[in-house]
Amino acid sequence: MSSQLSLITVPIALAERSYDILIAPGLLDQAASWQGLPKAAAALIVSNETVAPLYLERVRAQLASHFQRIETVVLPDGEEHKDWTSLNAIIDQLLATACDRKTVLVALGGGVIGDMTGFAAAVYMRGVPFVQVPTTLLSQVDSSVGGKTAINHPLGKNMVGAFYQPVRVLADLDTLDTLPQRELSAGLAEVIKYGPIADAAFLDWIEANLDALMARDKTALAHAVKRSCEIKAWVVGQDERESGLRAILNFGHTFGHAIETGLGYGEWLHGEGVGCGMVMASELSVRLGLMPAEFASRMRRVIQRAGLPTIGPRLGTERYLELMRVDKKAEGGEIRFVLIEALGKAVMRSAPEALVAEVLEHCTAA
Ligand code: NAD
Ligand code: GLY
Repeated sequence: MSSQLSLITVPIALAERSYDILIAPGLLDQAASWQGLPKAAAALIVSNETVAPLYLERVRAQLASHFQRIETVVLPDGEEHKDWTSLNAIIDQLLATACDRKTVLVALGGGVIGDMTGFAAAVYMRGVPFVQVPTTLLSQVDSSVGGKTAINHPLGKNMVGAFYQPVRVLADLDTLDTLPQRELSAGLAEVIKYGPIADAAFLDWIEANLDALMARDKTALAHAVKRSCEIKAWVVGQDERESGLRAILNFGHTFGHAIETGLGYGEWLHGEGVGCGMVMASELSVRLGLMPAEFASRMRRVIQRAGLPTIGPRLGTERYLELMRVDKKAEGGEIRFVLIEALGKAVMRSAPEALVAEVLEHCTAA
């Protein structure tokens, strides 16, 4: 089936920072995927202990035709390692192997590797080119696209970072074959997100094709990755640095980041926090009178079917509020939520804390 799927290209239009997202099975081993990268003496592949044994040698073999030297750095796996220590390990390797300011960085892994490699590329010698090779569903549909790069701080998710675009994104659908089922579900959270915020018909499509997606049907996955990237490209093309519209991509993330930070990084997966956070944000949309009650039930159903948690951990209402006040969207300590006001249309606004507390009571474990 894989070989019947043809190459999908989704362009990201950002003037001189424009690039293509290539989506297909088998991309890693196709010479054409790697053609036309910036010329340099060296490339540095950044990966982790889980992904490197699976895919690093294949990427190295392709890059060998384009660069005289291929350096590598293999980091420990996990959200809890998305920090200064890992970032320093990338910079140390670049300097220790005398990589110059043309060196091309290649991020081979999920969103954690992609976000950290992008940040390293943004700051090394004030900026070197980088390629995203996302190997999780979440990174193929979201994190590898659009140029947000970051590391975490103990007090908040993704609090230190930069906007810095890759020169190419290679989403090889075959890499999803080795992904644990829990990680597939986490990726589906970000796929589901695009429906309510931007495309009601896509939400219908996800509901109709969820079983195929959970079974990793490549045709279904190809459409999910393509449509997600198209919507993200449309948003990022209008608001690269999140002065407004781009914030809609954070539907479910205000609650979700609070869960991730509150429990400690790596306890819940990012996509699990987002899935449960979307249930909470949907419930808040209903309680604010923006959407009918059926919307929250529908979101809870689809998120549950995707194998994601729909009930949040009991961190305590005050702790949730405290964590959400340091969210990047908060202004002057006032929490701002991405809410749904019509299917396919999101809005950013604040909400009375008493109502948010009600939602937290309703959506967290007893
Ligand atoms: P991840 O990078 O931790 O990957 C999940 C797990 O899957 C890891 O254990 C990883 O080693 C493993 N893995 C990766 N590819 C694999 C493969 N093909 N086969 C087997 N195992 C594989 O997590 P993620 O869900 O990809 O990304 C989450 C991160 O992305 C979070 O840090 C989040 O903040 C960030 N994010 C960033 C953006 C953005 O716009 N930059 C958007 C969404 C999320
Ligand atoms: N995932 C949120 C964004 O890229 O803006």
